[in-house]
Amino acid sequence: MDASLSPERRAALLIAAMTLDEKIALMHGVNRIKGDAASGYDFDLPPNGYVGYVPPNRRLGIPSLTLADGRAGVGNKARDVTLLPAPVAAASSWDPRLLNEFGRVLGQEQWGKGTNVALGPSIDVVRVPEWGRSFESYGEDPYFNGVMAAAEIEGIQSQGPIADANMYLTMNQESDRFRADSVVDERTLEEIYLPPFEAAVRDGHVDTFMCAYVKTNGVYSCENADLLQRMLREQLNFDGWVMSDWGATHSTVDSANNGLDQQMPDDTYYGATLKKAVLDGQVSTGCINRHVRNILVPMFRHGLFDRPPTGTWASNVRSPLHDSFSRKVAEQGTILLKNANSILPLQTNVSIAVIGAAGTTAPKIEGGGSSAVIAPYTISPRDGIRKRVGNGTQVSCTDGSDLAEAAKTAAAAQIAIVFVHTNETEGEDRPNLELPDHQDQLIATVAKANKQTIVVLDTGGPVLMPWADDVSAILEAWYPGQEDGNAIAAILFGDVNPSAKLPLTFPKDAAGIPTASKEQWPGSDGHSRYIEKLNVGYRWYDATRTEPLFPFGFGLSYTTFQLSHLVVSPANLDSQTGAVKNVSVIVDVTNTGKCGGAEVVQLYIGQPPANGEPPRQLRAFAKVQLNPGETKPVAMTLDKRSFSIFEPSQHRWISPDGTYEVFVGTSSRDLPLHGSVVVGSANLPQ
Ligand code: BGC
Repeated sequence: MDASLSPERRAALLIAAMTLDEKIALMHGVNRIKGDAASGYDFDLPPNGYVGYVPPNRRLGIPSLTLADGRAGVGNKARDVTLLPAPVAAASSWDPRLLNEFGRVLGQEQWGKGTNVALGPSIDVVRVPEWGRSFESYGEDPYFNGVMAAAEIEGIQSQGPIADANMYLTMNQESDRFRADSVVDERTLEEIYLPPFEAAVRDGHVDTFMCAYVKTNGVYSCENADLLQRMLREQLNFDGWVMSDWGATHSTVDSANNGLDQQMPDDTYYGATLKKAVLDGQVSTGCINRHVRNILVPMFRHGLFDRPPTGTWASNVRSPLHDSFSRKVAEQGTILLKNANSILPLQTNVSIAVIGAAGTTAPKIEGGGSSAVIAPYTISPRDGIRKRVGNGTQVSCTDGSDLAEAAKTAAAAQIAIVFVHTNETEGEDRPNLELPDHQDQLIATVAKANKQTIVVLDTGGPVLMPWADDVSAILEAWYPGQEDGNAIAAILFGDVNPSAKLPLTFPKDAAGIPTASKEQWPGSDGHSRYIEKLNVGYRWYDATRTEPLFPFGFGLSYTTFQLSHLVVSPANLDSQTGAVKNVSVIVDVTNTGKCGGAEVVQLYIGQPPANGEPPRQLRAFAKVQLNPGETKPVAMTLDKRSFSIFEPSQHRWISPDGTYEVFVGTSSRDLPLHGSVVVGSANLPQ
């Protein structure tokens, strides 16, 4: 308990005092999985509420570990907590500061509940648009996910708890999730799937990871030496601990020797069997000590011994500030996808029909599975809109179950707003990208009855929109959390000017997606083959020249912007080799419209063709707020990675010489400004 010593020293002293039983006790949780893990998400929550629990060691004064889910608020049926919008909504802000605050709010509520290990964020790249958990993550770009992950983790950990980034690695589908094998080549693994985790370590200083249910190249994640030792420890220098996802441990000896520090939630493999394996000499004491060290060092580093949380699972952790933050995230995350004839923002004196279950009787505020949160209240779109327009304006409603009724209600109003939704959840992928429950038909019916139809999507991922040309406006509001109706009303009536952008591509049709074949998803013979390789998300649309419905990075505003004066500074070079250290880029952004608003400037790199990379890859972005007529310079920095590829034959990143193109604009398909950077010795001053 000498807090003046380093965490490493304190851990070493403690380990020297621990018996084998005490060490093993720290290496597993004590909750039970109810029934068969293979049947899905089915755990007995312990009386203390925490979904993962390691009891304290009273002899040595080791505090308990109290683990709770939290992607959009404290989960596991906790009461008196705030439901934030889905992480994909927060990410759509393209604002790392918002994600940092998101993490702070989440971390503060977790800590207030007595949680010292907060399970989240989920940072996997969305490979398959049907993935049932894509709403929990940030989107389809590795660099973007890394920036968001680091920001959120930093926020969570600033409030006390240790964040647990998940799911490591290639957790890209729910279909067959307890057995599926992701077959992926090394370069793709390193360039697409690893970077968010790398940023979580390097920039977010995350101290725990959760290894995933799936296998990568034939080996379960939680006993995969390549993932856990070579990549995580040697390459990323990760210095915390790896816990298994709930039920993702499959062995004792292989797991222990290949890098799993802690089994969750129980001791099936890391209790008596682990002790026996040590006594039999199959797992060394040195190996056990390393695992225990990996757990204890972060516990010391985060002050769990010195400043344990004082709250309990029963604490009320809500606050008016958190309620309004939830609303702010929903407002900042709602994307304006279409706005024909500037139908939006609406005036408050027009009669409005609110149609659809998500708008009226059953607001779709969150996704399902372990990220689910018990909302303290729900503002429905109907209620939010009614409150915003006041008593003088007529707002009629119908849930849309009766199409004739929907048509009648729509025809009787000046503006019809249809709210549609998907039901996304952990444990299953969507069967396809269509809106379920005949909602396409509902939209078509309403659009026919009223020429001024606005569609609001409450989905966790992309959907097909066969009706896109027939409606006046489209908003993607995602799963917006408890403040749903207030946030959408603020957008609809222009109190908030939308400034969010898509963090994933919306395809035109089912065939035109990167993972359209069965062998890619959901896989055949238990293997999901990543044959699209680096061409994930927009990379594939660009490489195959496929027109998306709405591209990655796209989102409209009630104002307009113009970019000009791109300056790509000469590369800061290593004087010996000419290799790029970093490059700074400046561009002017002007608000050319009539109201204040924010634009996201996006920078994509096109590598020399010989590098064999996708045509363009996001490497920097910046969000800027501008008054009408105002111009501001926006500065971005490109690091060495922007000019690198992973070379599998050498197992490392290299920077091939050549001309790297710089594309700057406001979506992956609207890149008006070009520059370039020359890499290599030819670039050195003579
Ligand atoms: C999920 C994890 C979650 C855990 C505990 C698992 O089914 O995959 O993300 O943290 O359950 O609830």
